[in-house]
Amino acid sequence: MANLILSSSLLWILTVDAVVASGCMEVERNALLTFKSGLVDPQNFLSSWEGEDCCKWRGVACSNATGHVVKLNLRNRNSCYIFIEECPCLSGEINPSLLLLTNLEHLDVSMNNFSGTSIPTFLGSLKNLRYLNLANSYSSGTIPPQIGNLSKLHYLDLNSEFIYPRNLRIDDILWLTRLSSLKYLDLSIVNMNTSTGWLHAVNMLPSLKVLHLADCSLPGISTSLSHFNLTTLNVLDLGGNSINSTLPTWLRNLTSITYLDLSSNEFHGVISDEFLRLSTLNNLFLGYNGFKGMNPKALRYLCNLRSLDLSSFNIGGEIMEWVEMLPRCVRNNLQTLYLNDNNLGGNLSGWLEQMNSLTDINLGSNLLSGSIPAGVWKLPNLIYLYLYNNSLDGVVSDVELSYLRKIQYLDLSLNALTVRVRDDWVPPFQLKEIFLASCQLGPNFPAWLKGFALLQ
Ligand SMILES: *[C@@H]1O[C@H](CO)[C@@H](O)[C@H](O)[C@H]1NC(C)=O
Ligand SMILES: *[C@@H]1O[C@H](CO)[C@@H](O)[C@H](O)[C@H]1NC(C)=O
Ligand SMILES: *[C@@H]1O[C@H](CO)[C@@H](O)[C@H](O)[C@H]1NC(C)=O
Ligand SMILES: *[C@@H]1O[C@H](CO)[C@@H](O)[C@H](O)[C@H]1NC(C)=O
Ligand SMILES: *[C@@H]1O[C@H](CO)[C@@H](O)[C@H](O)[C@H]1NC(C)=O
Ligand SMILES: *[C@@H]1O[C@H](CO)[C@@H](O)[C@H](O)[C@H]1NC(C)=O
Ligand SMILES: *[C@@H]1O[C@H](CO)[C@@H](O)[C@H](O)[C@H]1NC(C)=O
Ligand SMILES: *[C@@H]1O[C@H](CO)[C@@H](O)[C@H](O)[C@H]1NC(C)=O
Ligand SMILES: *[C@@H]1O[C@H](CO)[C@@H](O)[C@H](O)[C@H]1NC(C)=O
Repeated sequence: MANLILSSSLLWILTVDAVVASGCMEVERNALLTFKSGLVDPQNFLSSWEGEDCCKWRGVACSNATGHVVKLNLRNRNSCYIFIEECPCLSGEINPSLLLLTNLEHLDVSMNNFSGTSIPTFLGSLKNLRYLNLANSYSSGTIPPQIGNLSKLHYLDLNSEFIYPRNLRIDDILWLTRLSSLKYLDLSIVNMNTSTGWLHAVNMLPSLKVLHLADCSLPGISTSLSHFNLTTLNVLDLGGNSINSTLPTWLRNLTSITYLDLSSNEFHGVISDEFLRLSTLNNLFLGYNGFKGMNPKALRYLCNLRSLDLSSFNIGGEIMEWVEMLPRCVRNNLQTLYLNDNNLGGNLSGWLEQMNSLTDINLGSNLLSGSIPAGVWKLPNLIYLYLYNNSLDGVVSDVELSYLRKIQYLDLSLNALTVRVRDDWVPPFQLKEIFLASCQLGPNFPAWLKGFALLQ
Protein backbone atom coordinates (compact mmCIF):
# COMPACT_ATOMS: atom_id res chain seq x y z
CA MET A 1 0.00 0.00 0.00
CA ALA A 2 2.73 2.43 1.04
CA ASN A 3 4.67 1.41 -2.03
CA LEU A 4 1.73 2.06 -4.27
CA ILE A 5 1.21 5.57 -2.84
CA LEU A 6 4.88 6.32 -3.23
CA SER A 7 5.04 5.19 -6.83
CA SER A 8 1.87 7.01 -7.83
CA SER A 9 3.13 10.26 -6.34
CA LEU A 10 6.40 9.68 -8.16
CA LEU A 11 4.42 9.22 -11.34
CA TRP A 12 2.57 12.45 -10.60
CA ILE A 13 5.85 14.33 -10.17
CA LEU A 14 7.18 12.91 -13.43
CA THR A 15 4.00 13.95 -15.24
CA VAL A 16 4.20 17.50 -13.95
CA ASP A 17 7.82 17.69 -15.00
CA ALA A 18 6.93 16.51 -18.49
CA VAL A 19 4.30 19.24 -18.80
CA VAL A 20 6.71 21.86 -17.54
CA ALA A 21 9.46 20.82 -19.94
CA SER A 22 7.26 21.57 -22.93
CA GLY A 23 6.85 25.24 -22.10
CA CYS A 24 7.18 27.87 -19.46
CA MET A 25 4.88 28.38 -16.54
CA GLU A 26 1.78 30.41 -17.21
CA VAL A 27 2.37 32.77 -14.29
CA GLU A 28 5.94 33.46 -15.38
CA ARG A 29 4.94 33.93 -18.97
CA ASN A 30 2.36 36.53 -17.93
CA ALA A 31 4.90 38.22 -15.67
CA LEU A 32 7.31 38.56 -18.58
CA LEU A 33 4.58 40.02 -20.80
CA THR A 34 3.72 42.60 -18.13
CA PHE A 35 7.44 43.35 -17.79
CA LYS A 36 7.65 43.81 -21.57
CA SER A 37 4.70 46.21 -21.59
CA GLY A 38 6.67 48.55 -19.30
CA LEU A 39 9.52 48.76 -21.78
CA VAL A 40 9.97 51.02 -24.78
CA ASP A 41 11.49 48.88 -27.51
CA PRO A 42 11.81 50.83 -30.77
CA GLN A 43 14.23 48.29 -32.24
CA ASN A 44 11.83 45.42 -31.61
CA PHE A 45 14.48 43.64 -29.65
CA LEU A 46 11.76 41.61 -27.93
CA SER A 47 9.88 40.59 -31.08
CA SER A 48 10.34 36.91 -30.18
CA TRP A 49 8.36 37.47 -26.97
CA GLU A 50 5.12 35.89 -28.15
CA GLY A 51 3.67 32.39 -28.19
CA GLU A 52 3.38 29.88 -25.38
CA ASP A 53 6.92 28.82 -24.58
CA CYS A 54 8.59 31.82 -22.92
CA CYS A 55 11.70 29.69 -22.34
CA LYS A 56 12.41 30.12 -26.06
CA TRP A 57 12.08 33.91 -26.00
CA ARG A 58 15.14 36.00 -26.64
CA GLY A 59 17.17 36.54 -23.46
CA VAL A 60 15.06 34.15 -21.35
CA ALA A 61 16.45 30.88 -19.98
CA CYS A 62 14.62 28.31 -17.90
CA SER A 63 15.96 25.65 -15.60
CA ASN A 64 16.01 22.26 -17.30
CA ALA A 65 15.21 20.69 -13.96
CA THR A 66 12.31 22.83 -12.72
CA GLY A 67 11.07 24.74 -15.79
CA HIS A 68 11.27 28.03 -13.90
CA VAL A 69 12.74 31.10 -15.56
CA VAL A 70 16.22 31.40 -14.04
CA LYS A 71 17.91 33.86 -16.34
CA LEU A 72 16.96 37.12 -18.04
CA ASN A 73 19.69 38.58 -20.22
CA LEU A 74 18.64 41.80 -21.96
CA ARG A 75 22.10 43.29 -22.22
CA ASN A 76 22.19 45.68 -25.14
CA ARG A 77 24.96 44.66 -27.54
CA ASN A 78 24.79 47.94 -29.45
CA SER A 79 26.71 49.93 -26.82
CA CYS A 80 24.63 52.91 -25.82
CA TYR A 81 27.50 55.38 -25.50
CA ILE A 82 26.97 58.84 -24.05
CA PHE A 83 27.88 60.58 -27.27
CA ILE A 84 25.14 58.85 -29.23
CA GLU A 85 22.03 61.04 -29.22
CA GLU A 86 19.52 58.25 -29.07
CA CYS A 87 20.65 54.76 -28.28
CA PRO A 88 19.21 51.71 -30.04
CA CYS A 89 18.25 50.11 -26.75
CA LEU A 90 15.46 49.43 -24.28
CA SER A 91 14.08 52.23 -22.15
CA GLY A 92 10.94 52.76 -20.07
CA GLU A 93 10.86 51.03 -16.70
CA ILE A 94 11.32 47.69 -15.04
CA ASN A 95 7.96 46.41 -13.91
CA PRO A 96 7.64 44.77 -10.45
CA SER A 97 6.02 41.80 -12.20
CA LEU A 98 9.58 40.45 -12.24
CA LEU A 99 8.97 39.45 -8.62
CA LEU A 100 6.80 36.62 -9.92
CA LEU A 101 9.94 35.04 -11.39
CA THR A 102 10.71 33.56 -7.99
CA ASN A 103 13.63 31.44 -9.19
CA LEU A 104 15.41 34.19 -11.10
CA GLU A 105 19.17 33.88 -10.53
CA HIS A 106 20.60 36.05 -13.28
CA LEU A 107 19.38 39.51 -14.33
CA ASP A 108 21.25 41.59 -16.87
CA VAL A 109 19.72 44.78 -18.31
CA SER A 110 23.03 46.54 -18.83
CA MET A 111 23.75 49.08 -21.59
CA ASN A 112 20.09 50.07 -21.89
CA ASN A 113 18.60 53.41 -20.93
CA PHE A 114 16.48 53.62 -17.80
CA SER A 115 17.89 57.04 -17.04
CA GLY A 116 14.42 58.54 -16.58
CA THR A 117 13.90 56.33 -13.51
CA SER A 118 15.72 55.26 -10.32
CA ILE A 119 16.94 51.74 -9.62
CA PRO A 120 13.80 50.00 -8.33
CA THR A 121 13.89 49.03 -4.66
CA PHE A 122 11.95 45.82 -5.36
CA LEU A 123 15.03 44.33 -7.01
CA GLY A 124 16.17 43.67 -3.44
CA SER A 125 13.36 41.13 -3.13
CA LEU A 126 14.59 38.92 -5.99
CA LYS A 127 16.24 36.86 -3.32
CA ASN A 128 17.62 34.08 -5.50
CA LEU A 129 19.70 36.47 -7.60
CA ARG A 130 23.33 35.51 -7.94
CA TYR A 131 24.11 37.88 -10.81
CA LEU A 132 22.84 41.46 -11.17
CA ASN A 133 24.10 43.71 -13.93
CA LEU A 134 22.58 47.19 -14.25
CA ALA A 135 25.73 48.78 -15.68
CA ASN A 136 25.22 51.89 -17.80
CA SER A 137 21.46 51.70 -17.57
CA TYR A 138 20.73 54.03 -14.66
CA SER A 139 22.15 57.51 -14.34
CA SER A 140 20.65 59.08 -11.26
CA GLY A 141 19.27 58.49 -7.80
CA THR A 142 20.51 56.54 -4.81
CA ILE A 143 21.34 52.87 -5.09
CA PRO A 144 18.61 51.31 -2.93
CA PRO A 145 19.95 49.75 0.28
CA GLN A 146 17.50 46.89 -0.39
CA ILE A 147 20.12 45.51 -2.81
CA GLY A 148 21.88 44.45 0.40
CA ASN A 149 19.13 41.85 0.93
CA LEU A 150 20.41 39.82 -2.02
CA SER A 151 22.52 37.58 0.16
CA LYS A 152 23.28 35.05 -2.61
CA LEU A 153 24.70 37.68 -4.96
CA HIS A 154 28.08 36.81 -6.47
CA TYR A 155 28.23 39.50 -9.12
CA LEU A 156 27.09 43.12 -8.92
CA ASP A 157 27.83 45.66 -11.65
CA LEU A 158 26.53 49.23 -11.35
CA ASN A 159 29.32 50.92 -13.30
CA SER A 160 27.99 53.95 -15.17
CA GLU A 161 30.96 55.07 -17.25
CA PHE A 162 29.11 55.25 -20.58
CA ILE A 163 25.91 56.91 -19.51
CA TYR A 164 25.03 60.54 -18.96
CA PRO A 165 24.25 62.34 -16.70
CA ARG A 166 26.27 60.57 -14.02
CA ASN A 167 24.38 61.18 -10.81
CA LEU A 168 24.13 57.69 -9.37
CA ARG A 169 24.92 57.82 -5.66
CA ILE A 170 25.46 55.72 -2.56
CA ASP A 171 24.30 57.41 0.64
CA ASP A 172 25.01 54.77 3.26
CA ILE A 173 27.41 52.03 2.26
CA LEU A 174 26.41 49.68 5.11
CA TRP A 175 24.06 47.62 2.92
CA LEU A 176 27.10 46.36 1.04
CA THR A 177 28.42 44.45 4.07
CA ARG A 178 25.44 42.06 3.85
CA LEU A 179 26.46 40.81 0.40
CA SER A 180 28.87 38.33 1.91
CA SER A 181 29.02 36.00 -1.14
CA LEU A 182 30.12 38.76 -3.50
CA LYS A 183 33.03 37.92 -5.80
CA TYR A 184 32.72 40.74 -8.35
CA LEU A 185 31.80 44.33 -7.53
CA ASP A 186 31.93 47.29 -9.89
CA LEU A 187 30.66 50.65 -8.62
CA SER A 188 32.84 52.82 -10.84
CA ILE A 189 31.55 56.39 -11.41
CA VAL A 190 28.96 55.99 -8.61
CA ASN A 191 29.34 58.98 -6.28
CA MET A 192 30.47 57.62 -2.89
CA ASN A 193 31.75 60.92 -1.49
CA THR A 194 30.01 60.44 1.88
CA SER A 195 30.96 56.77 2.31
CA THR A 196 33.80 57.23 4.78
CA GLY A 197 33.43 53.57 5.82
CA TRP A 198 33.83 52.16 2.30
CA LEU A 199 37.04 50.25 3.04
CA HIS A 200 35.65 48.65 6.19
CA ALA A 201 32.54 47.70 4.21
CA VAL A 202 34.42 45.95 1.41
CA ASN A 203 36.71 44.33 3.99
CA MET A 204 33.60 42.42 5.12
CA LEU A 205 33.37 40.68 1.72
CA PRO A 206 35.89 37.87 2.15
CA SER A 207 35.19 36.19 -1.24
CA LEU A 208 35.80 39.31 -3.29
CA LYS A 209 38.06 38.80 -6.31
CA VAL A 210 37.34 41.89 -8.38
CA LEU A 211 36.73 45.39 -7.02
CA HIS A 212 36.30 48.39 -9.31
CA LEU A 213 35.79 51.72 -7.54
CA ALA A 214 37.20 54.04 -10.20
CA ASP A 215 36.05 57.68 -10.20
CA CYS A 216 33.81 57.23 -7.16
CA SER A 217 34.91 60.44 -5.36
CA LEU A 218 36.00 58.23 -2.45
CA PRO A 219 36.45 60.42 0.63
CA GLY A 220 39.90 59.02 1.57
CA ILE A 221 41.34 55.69 2.56
CA SER A 222 42.39 54.05 5.84
CA THR A 223 46.10 53.40 5.70
CA SER A 224 45.98 50.73 8.38
CA LEU A 225 43.43 48.04 9.15
CA SER A 226 43.40 45.65 12.11
CA HIS A 227 42.81 42.72 9.81
CA PHE A 228 42.75 42.66 6.04
CA ASN A 229 40.34 40.00 4.79
CA LEU A 230 40.63 40.46 1.05
CA THR A 231 43.53 38.11 0.48
CA THR A 232 41.81 36.56 -2.56
CA LEU A 233 41.43 39.90 -4.35
CA ASN A 234 42.79 39.75 -7.93
CA VAL A 235 41.70 43.15 -9.20
CA LEU A 236 41.72 46.41 -7.23
CA ASP A 237 40.85 49.54 -9.16
CA LEU A 238 40.79 52.81 -7.22
CA GLY A 239 41.81 55.08 -10.10
CA GLY A 240 40.62 58.67 -10.39
CA ASN A 241 39.51 59.28 -6.80
CA SER A 242 41.75 62.17 -5.70
CA ILE A 243 42.70 60.16 -2.59
CA ASN A 244 45.39 62.16 -0.74
CA SER A 245 47.34 59.61 1.29
CA THR A 246 50.51 57.63 1.63
CA LEU A 247 50.27 54.06 0.31
CA PRO A 248 48.19 51.99 2.77
CA THR A 249 50.22 49.36 4.61
CA TRP A 250 47.56 46.68 3.96
CA LEU A 251 48.37 46.79 0.22
CA ARG A 252 51.22 44.37 1.00
CA ASN A 253 48.60 41.81 2.09
CA LEU A 254 47.14 41.65 -1.43
CA THR A 255 48.81 38.32 -1.98
CA SER A 256 46.68 37.33 -5.02
CA ILE A 257 46.63 40.68 -6.76
CA THR A 258 47.15 40.71 -10.53
CA TYR A 259 45.71 44.13 -11.45
CA LEU A 260 46.23 47.23 -9.32
CA ASP A 261 45.16 50.69 -10.44
CA LEU A 262 45.86 53.57 -8.07
CA SER A 263 46.39 56.12 -10.84
CA SER A 264 45.07 59.69 -10.81
CA ASN A 265 44.94 60.15 -7.06
CA GLU A 266 47.14 62.14 -4.67
CA PHE A 267 49.08 59.17 -3.29
CA HIS A 268 52.53 60.29 -2.22
CA GLY A 269 55.52 59.35 -0.09
CA VAL A 270 57.71 56.28 -0.26
CA ILE A 271 56.82 53.26 -2.38
CA SER A 272 58.02 50.63 0.03
CA ASP A 273 59.91 47.48 -0.80
CA GLU A 274 57.12 45.37 0.73
CA PHE A 275 54.64 46.86 -1.69
CA LEU A 276 56.96 46.08 -4.60
CA ARG A 277 57.09 42.42 -3.56
CA LEU A 278 53.59 41.77 -4.91
CA SER A 279 55.02 39.32 -7.43
CA THR A 280 51.60 38.22 -8.72
CA LEU A 281 51.08 41.65 -10.33
CA ASN A 282 50.50 41.74 -14.08
CA ASN A 283 49.19 45.29 -14.36
CA LEU A 284 50.36 48.18 -12.21
CA PHE A 285 49.00 51.68 -12.74
CA LEU A 286 50.49 54.34 -10.46
CA GLY A 287 50.54 57.32 -12.83
CA TYR A 288 49.38 60.84 -11.97
CA ASN A 289 49.92 60.78 -8.23
CA GLY A 290 52.33 62.70 -6.02
CA PHE A 291 55.23 60.25 -6.27
CA LYS A 292 58.73 61.55 -6.86
CA GLY A 293 60.84 59.22 -8.94
CA MET A 294 61.15 55.45 -9.08
CA ASN A 295 64.27 53.34 -9.07
CA PRO A 296 63.67 50.79 -11.84
CA LYS A 297 65.71 48.21 -9.91
CA ALA A 298 63.02 48.25 -7.22
CA LEU A 299 60.76 46.39 -9.66
CA ARG A 300 62.92 43.24 -9.43
CA TYR A 301 60.19 41.11 -7.81
CA LEU A 302 57.62 42.06 -10.44
CA CYS A 303 58.65 39.65 -13.17
CA ASN A 304 55.03 38.97 -14.16
CA LEU A 305 54.42 42.60 -15.02
CA ARG A 306 52.75 43.21 -18.39
CA SER A 307 51.57 46.80 -17.89
CA LEU A 308 53.43 49.56 -16.11
CA ASP A 309 52.10 53.09 -15.73
CA LEU A 310 54.48 55.56 -14.10
CA SER A 311 53.10 58.68 -15.76
CA SER A 312 54.02 61.96 -14.09
CA PHE A 313 56.52 60.41 -11.64
CA ASN A 314 59.08 63.16 -12.02
CA ILE A 315 61.69 60.59 -13.08
CA GLY A 316 64.01 62.89 -15.05
CA GLY A 317 67.37 62.01 -16.57
CA GLU A 318 68.09 59.93 -19.63
CA ILE A 319 65.36 57.60 -20.78
CA MET A 320 67.63 54.83 -22.08
CA GLU A 321 69.59 54.72 -18.83
CA TRP A 322 66.37 54.38 -16.86
CA VAL A 323 64.88 51.67 -19.07
CA GLU A 324 68.10 49.68 -19.12
CA MET A 325 68.04 49.50 -15.34
CA LEU A 326 64.66 47.75 -15.47
CA PRO A 327 65.08 44.08 -14.51
CA ARG A 328 65.47 42.02 -17.67
CA CYS A 329 62.31 39.99 -17.00
CA VAL A 330 60.28 43.20 -16.83
CA ARG A 331 61.88 44.82 -19.86
CA ASN A 332 61.38 41.78 -22.07
CA ASN A 333 57.78 41.08 -21.19
CA LEU A 334 56.18 44.51 -20.87
CA GLN A 335 53.23 45.08 -23.19
CA THR A 336 52.16 48.47 -21.88
CA LEU A 337 54.61 51.20 -20.87
CA TYR A 338 53.47 54.67 -19.84
CA LEU A 339 56.31 57.03 -19.00
CA ASN A 340 54.63 60.24 -20.14
CA ASP A 341 55.12 63.54 -18.26
CA ASN A 342 58.43 62.58 -16.70
CA ASN A 343 61.01 65.14 -17.85
CA LEU A 344 62.87 62.32 -19.54
CA GLY A 345 65.53 63.34 -22.07
CA GLY A 346 67.44 61.41 -24.68
CA ASN A 347 66.20 59.67 -27.79
CA LEU A 348 64.42 56.50 -28.90
CA SER A 349 67.45 54.79 -30.45
CA GLY A 350 68.91 51.56 -29.17
CA TRP A 351 66.31 50.54 -26.60
CA LEU A 352 62.66 50.98 -27.60
CA GLU A 353 62.92 48.83 -30.73
CA GLN A 354 64.20 45.95 -28.57
CA MET A 355 61.08 45.80 -26.42
CA ASN A 356 59.31 43.42 -28.76
CA SER A 357 56.29 42.66 -26.59
CA LEU A 358 55.09 46.25 -26.42
CA THR A 359 51.56 46.94 -27.62
CA ASP A 360 50.91 50.29 -25.87
CA ILE A 361 53.52 53.03 -25.55
CA ASN A 362 53.06 56.50 -24.10
CA LEU A 363 56.16 58.67 -23.90
CA GLY A 364 54.31 61.96 -24.38
CA SER A 365 55.29 65.28 -22.77
CA ASN A 366 58.95 64.47 -22.18
CA LEU A 367 62.11 66.06 -23.55
CA LEU A 368 62.87 63.40 -26.15
CA SER A 369 64.75 64.37 -29.28
CA GLY A 370 66.12 62.83 -32.46
CA SER A 371 64.20 60.87 -35.04
CA ILE A 372 61.94 57.87 -34.56
CA PRO A 373 64.06 54.80 -35.38
CA ALA A 374 62.76 52.42 -38.05
CA GLY A 375 62.73 49.60 -35.49
CA VAL A 376 60.00 51.36 -33.51
CA TRP A 377 57.61 51.29 -36.48
CA LYS A 378 58.47 47.62 -36.90
CA LEU A 379 57.47 46.60 -33.36
CA PRO A 380 55.22 43.66 -34.28
CA ASN A 381 52.33 44.18 -31.87
CA LEU A 382 51.96 47.93 -31.65
CA ILE A 383 48.37 49.12 -31.12
CA TYR A 384 48.84 52.40 -29.29
CA LEU A 385 51.76 54.78 -29.87
CA TYR A 386 51.72 58.17 -28.15
CA LEU A 387 54.82 60.35 -28.58
CA TYR A 388 53.16 63.81 -28.42
CA ASN A 389 54.81 66.93 -27.04
CA ASN A 390 58.51 66.08 -27.36
CA SER A 391 61.21 67.45 -29.63
CA LEU A 392 61.25 64.56 -32.08
CA ASP A 393 62.22 65.44 -35.64
CA GLY A 394 62.76 63.83 -39.01
CA VAL A 395 60.41 62.56 -41.67
CA VAL A 396 57.70 59.96 -41.21
CA SER A 397 56.63 58.62 -44.58
CA ASP A 398 54.33 55.88 -45.82
CA VAL A 399 57.36 53.57 -45.75
CA GLU A 400 57.49 53.81 -41.94
CA LEU A 401 53.72 53.88 -41.50
CA SER A 402 53.38 50.75 -43.63
CA TYR A 403 55.18 48.71 -40.97
CA LEU A 404 52.30 49.40 -38.58
CA ARG A 405 49.84 46.57 -39.00
CA LYS A 406 47.78 46.66 -35.83
CA ILE A 407 47.97 50.33 -34.88
CA GLN A 408 44.69 51.92 -33.71
CA TYR A 409 45.83 54.97 -31.76
CA LEU A 410 48.63 57.23 -32.94
CA ASP A 411 49.64 60.60 -31.50
CA LEU A 412 52.69 62.35 -32.93
CA SER A 413 51.48 65.88 -32.33
CA LEU A 414 53.55 68.76 -30.90
CA ASN A 415 56.88 67.60 -32.29
CA ALA A 416 59.00 68.83 -35.18
CA LEU A 417 58.06 65.86 -37.33
CA THR A 418 57.24 65.98 -41.02
CA VAL A 419 54.60 63.47 -42.10
CA ARG A 420 54.90 62.89 -45.84
CA VAL A 421 52.74 60.29 -47.49
CA ARG A 422 52.16 59.51 -51.19
CA ASP A 423 48.73 60.59 -52.43
CA ASP A 424 47.73 57.08 -53.51
CA TRP A 425 48.97 55.33 -50.40
CA VAL A 426 46.52 52.88 -48.79
CA PRO A 427 47.24 52.24 -45.10
CA PRO A 428 47.38 48.60 -43.98
CA PHE A 429 45.69 49.46 -40.65
CA GLN A 430 42.40 50.82 -39.34
CA LEU A 431 42.88 53.79 -37.00
CA LYS A 432 40.51 54.73 -34.21
CA GLU A 433 42.30 57.96 -33.24
CA ILE A 434 45.13 59.96 -34.75
CA PHE A 435 46.63 63.24 -33.65
CA LEU A 436 49.10 65.04 -35.85
CA ALA A 437 48.72 68.62 -34.60
CA SER A 438 51.67 70.84 -35.54
CA CYS A 439 53.26 68.10 -37.62
CA GLN A 440 54.06 69.22 -41.13
CA LEU A 441 51.56 67.57 -43.42
CA GLY A 442 50.51 68.25 -46.85
CA PRO A 443 50.46 70.38 -48.92
CA ASN A 444 46.97 68.90 -49.41
CA PHE A 445 44.78 67.24 -46.79
CA PRO A 446 46.26 63.76 -46.62
CA ALA A 447 44.13 61.45 -48.76
CA TRP A 448 44.95 58.40 -46.60
CA LEU A 449 43.20 59.93 -43.59
CA LYS A 450 39.91 60.21 -45.46
CA GLY A 451 39.33 56.45 -45.31
CA PHE A 452 38.96 56.19 -41.55
CA ALA A 453 35.42 56.19 -40.22
CA LEU A 454 36.08 56.63 -36.53
CA LEU A 455 38.71 59.36 -36.63
CA GLN A 456 38.59 62.12 -34.09
C1 LIG B 1 19.31 23.25 -20.57
O1 LIG B 1 19.80 22.25 -21.41
C2 LIG B 1 20.30 22.72 -22.65
C3 LIG B 1 20.65 21.53 -23.53
O2 LIG B 1 21.23 20.51 -22.78
C4 LIG B 1 21.52 23.60 -22.35
O3 LIG B 1 22.07 24.10 -23.55
C5 LIG B 1 21.08 24.76 -21.48
O4 LIG B 1 22.19 25.55 -21.16
C6 LIG B 1 20.40 24.26 -20.23
N1 LIG B 1 19.83 25.41 -19.54
C7 LIG B 1 20.16 25.76 -18.31
C8 LIG B 1 19.50 26.98 -17.77
O5 LIG B 1 20.93 25.10 -17.62
C1 LIG C 1 17.72 58.04 -22.34
O1 LIG C 1 16.44 58.33 -21.82
C2 LIG C 1 16.30 59.68 -21.42
C3 LIG C 1 14.98 59.84 -20.69
O2 LIG C 1 14.04 58.93 -21.13
C4 LIG C 1 16.42 60.57 -22.64
O3 LIG C 1 16.28 61.93 -22.28
C5 LIG C 1 17.79 60.36 -23.26
O4 LIG C 1 17.92 61.10 -24.44
C6 LIG C 1 18.03 58.89 -23.55
N1 LIG C 1 19.43 58.72 -23.92
C7 LIG C 1 19.82 58.02 -24.97
C8 LIG C 1 21.27 57.94 -25.21
O5 LIG C 1 19.03 57.47 -25.70
C1 LIG D 1 15.54 44.68 2.85
O1 LIG D 1 16.38 45.79 3.13
C2 LIG D 1 15.71 46.87 3.72
C3 LIG D 1 16.68 48.05 3.81
O2 LIG D 1 18.02 47.67 3.90
C4 LIG D 1 15.12 46.48 5.05
O3 LIG D 1 14.50 47.56 5.69
C5 LIG D 1 14.13 45.35 4.83
O4 LIG D 1 13.64 44.90 6.02
C6 LIG D 1 14.75 44.20 4.05
N1 LIG D 1 13.73 43.28 3.64
C7 LIG D 1 13.83 41.97 3.81
C8 LIG D 1 12.70 41.15 3.29
O5 LIG D 1 14.78 41.45 4.31
C1 LIG E 1 29.14 64.95 -2.62
O1 LIG E 1 28.76 65.13 -3.96
C2 LIG E 1 27.57 65.89 -4.11
C3 LIG E 1 27.19 65.86 -5.58
O2 LIG E 1 28.28 66.19 -6.39
C4 LIG E 1 27.80 67.30 -3.58
O3 LIG E 1 26.62 68.07 -3.72
C5 LIG E 1 28.18 67.20 -2.11
O4 LIG E 1 28.48 68.48 -1.61
C6 LIG E 1 29.37 66.28 -1.93
N1 LIG E 1 29.57 66.06 -0.51
C7 LIG E 1 30.79 65.97 0.04
C8 LIG E 1 30.83 65.66 1.49
O5 LIG E 1 31.81 66.11 -0.61
C1 LIG F 1 37.18 41.22 8.34
O1 LIG F 1 37.89 42.23 9.05
C2 LIG F 1 37.17 42.94 10.05
C3 LIG F 1 38.11 43.90 10.72
O2 LIG F 1 38.51 44.91 9.87
C4 LIG F 1 36.51 41.99 11.02
O3 LIG F 1 35.70 42.72 11.92
C5 LIG F 1 35.70 40.96 10.30
O4 LIG F 1 35.12 40.06 11.19
C6 LIG F 1 36.56 40.22 9.31
N1 LIG F 1 35.91 39.10 8.64
C7 LIG F 1 34.84 39.17 7.84
C8 LIG F 1 34.40 37.85 7.27
O5 LIG F 1 34.27 40.17 7.57
C1 LIG G 1 49.40 41.42 6.57
O1 LIG G 1 50.21 40.24 6.52
C2 LIG G 1 51.20 40.19 7.52
C3 LIG G 1 52.12 39.03 7.24
O2 LIG G 1 51.40 37.93 6.80
C4 LIG G 1 50.50 40.09 8.87
O3 LIG G 1 51.45 40.02 9.91
C5 LIG G 1 49.64 41.34 9.05
O4 LIG G 1 48.90 41.24 10.26
C6 LIG G 1 48.68 41.49 7.90
N1 LIG G 1 48.05 42.80 8.00
C7 LIG G 1 46.74 42.99 7.98
C8 LIG G 1 46.25 44.39 8.07
O5 LIG G 1 45.95 42.08 7.89
C1 LIG H 1 47.32 66.37 0.83
O1 LIG H 1 47.15 66.55 2.22
C2 LIG H 1 48.19 67.30 2.80
C3 LIG H 1 48.03 67.31 4.31
O2 LIG H 1 46.79 66.87 4.72
C4 LIG H 1 48.19 68.71 2.24
O3 LIG H 1 49.23 69.47 2.80
C5 LIG H 1 48.40 68.62 0.74
O4 LIG H 1 48.31 69.91 0.15
C6 LIG H 1 47.36 67.70 0.11
N1 LIG H 1 47.72 67.50 -1.28
C7 LIG H 1 46.90 67.72 -2.28
C8 LIG H 1 47.45 67.54 -3.64
O5 LIG H 1 45.75 68.05 -2.11
C1 LIG I 1 70.77 58.69 -28.54
O1 LIG I 1 71.14 58.91 -27.19
C2 LIG I 1 72.28 58.16 -26.81
C3 LIG I 1 72.49 58.33 -25.32
O2 LIG I 1 72.45 59.68 -24.96
C4 LIG I 1 73.49 58.63 -27.62
O3 LIG I 1 74.64 57.88 -27.26
C5 LIG I 1 73.20 58.42 -29.08
O4 LIG I 1 74.24 58.96 -29.86
C6 LIG I 1 71.89 59.09 -29.48
N1 LIG I 1 71.55 58.66 -30.80
C7 LIG I 1 71.06 59.47 -31.74
C8 LIG I 1 70.77 58.87 -33.06
O5 LIG I 1 70.87 60.66 -31.51
C1 LIG J 1 54.39 69.56 -22.96
O1 LIG J 1 55.35 69.07 -22.05
C2 LIG J 1 55.80 70.01 -21.09
C3 LIG J 1 56.84 69.34 -20.22
O2 LIG J 1 57.81 68.72 -20.98
C4 LIG J 1 54.64 70.50 -20.25
O3 LIG J 1 55.07 71.48 -19.34
C5 LIG J 1 53.57 71.06 -21.15
O4 LIG J 1 52.43 71.39 -20.38
C6 LIG J 1 53.17 70.02 -22.19
N1 LIG J 1 52.24 70.62 -23.13
C7 LIG J 1 51.13 70.00 -23.50
C8 LIG J 1 50.25 70.72 -24.46
O5 LIG J 1 50.80 68.90 -23.08
